[in-house]
Amino acid sequence: MRLISTTRAQDGVELGRDVMIGRPDGVPLLRAGVRLTNRYRDLLVKAGVSAIYVEDELSEGILVEPVVDDMTRAIATRAVSSAFKTARDAMSSGKRLAPDTVEALEDVVRRILEQIEGSGGVALALADLSSADGYTFQHSIDVTAVGLMIGHRYFTSQGWTDFRGERHYDQVEERLSTLGLGLLLHDIGKLAIPLGILNKPGKLTPEEWTIMKSHPRAGVDMLDGSQWSPLIKSVVLRHHERWNGSGYPDAKAGAEIHPMARIAAVADVYDAITSERLYAPARPAADGVRAIIEGNGTLFDPEVVDAFCRVVAPFPAGTSVELQDGRKGIVVSVPDGALDRPVVRILEGEGARTEISLLHDPGIRISGWDHVSPPSPVAA
Ligand SMILES: [Fe+2]
Repeated sequence: MRLISTTRAQDGVELGRDVMIGRPDGVPLLRAGVRLTNRYRDLLVKAGVSAIYVEDELSEGILVEPVVDDMTRAIATRAVSSAFKTARDAMSSGKRLAPDTVEALEDVVRRILEQIEGSGGVALALADLSSADGYTFQHSIDVTAVGLMIGHRYFTSQGWTDFRGERHYDQVEERLSTLGLGLLLHDIGKLAIPLGILNKPGKLTPEEWTIMKSHPRAGVDMLDGSQWSPLIKSVVLRHHERWNGSGYPDAKAGAEIHPMARIAAVADVYDAITSERLYAPARPAADGVRAIIEGNGTLFDPEVVDAFCRVVAPFPAGTSVELQDGRKGIVVSVPDGALDRPVVRILEGEGARTEISLLHDPGIRISGWDHVSPPSPVAA
């Protein structure tokens, strides 16, 4: 299976995975196995699906496994959309959100965690599954999945620090479920932002930007003060703070920002880059990984970036890549522990192919990659 741009897909090619775009009911727009026609291509383009997985001879035997399966995603979408509706109703009647009104979210976090653990906790390539509509829900789910992957790695290797500054390595499951709830709710304050600003295609004016930057505090204000864990509130309030103090709402820096919020910052930025937005097309995983590495030590906590690089593959299985000597190929698999050194199937004339492991050939560099983004999160 490999990932190709929808507009470049040939008639008759077989879809490798269900296309679940924008369907909260869990019914695919098109099913795996369907052969592409002009009409289907138009349908996909109209739905904002810029890339699809296809099964063809070149990519025979290459497996692409979703980390968050379609069933979990459908359940998560329903739970998040219902939590946001409850929050909206509470807001309009001047009330705050109590944890027991959104109990279903805990179940979503548990399901996502189970899948992450099932995938070995490594090698996630996560990008957008949906068209821009429903962005906030899908974004919340994808940020939760990548944030929990980072958190799993971070808490296992760095432990977590209590209010006395002591490190602990136990109760990781509890920490992860708290982190997961914070991640699912991190952008809930966007409900308080006028849609005209939220969905504006162009640049925001300084006044609009000020309103936009109020969403973390608006989010905390929506959560009933004494009932929610302070850690969840910290993720909601601080996910736009930056390691060097250049973020908002309070320009906090370094250890002033809770590690859970530092994890949320990396997951949020990575997902924003690799997702289809109303005002920007989705970019490939490699671009998202590069942006996080560029912010290492300035925008982002180096320990969090280190954990991120150990769980997010820049070139997941099925990605088309170009090597610096001009050879072209498709990523077959990604080794644990060296996510940027995949096995690549080289495509040569006459259907001949060889596979090379970049891990065993350290002199070979990937110099280019297809500018398409996976239509759903996949394990490399
Ligand atoms: Fe945000």
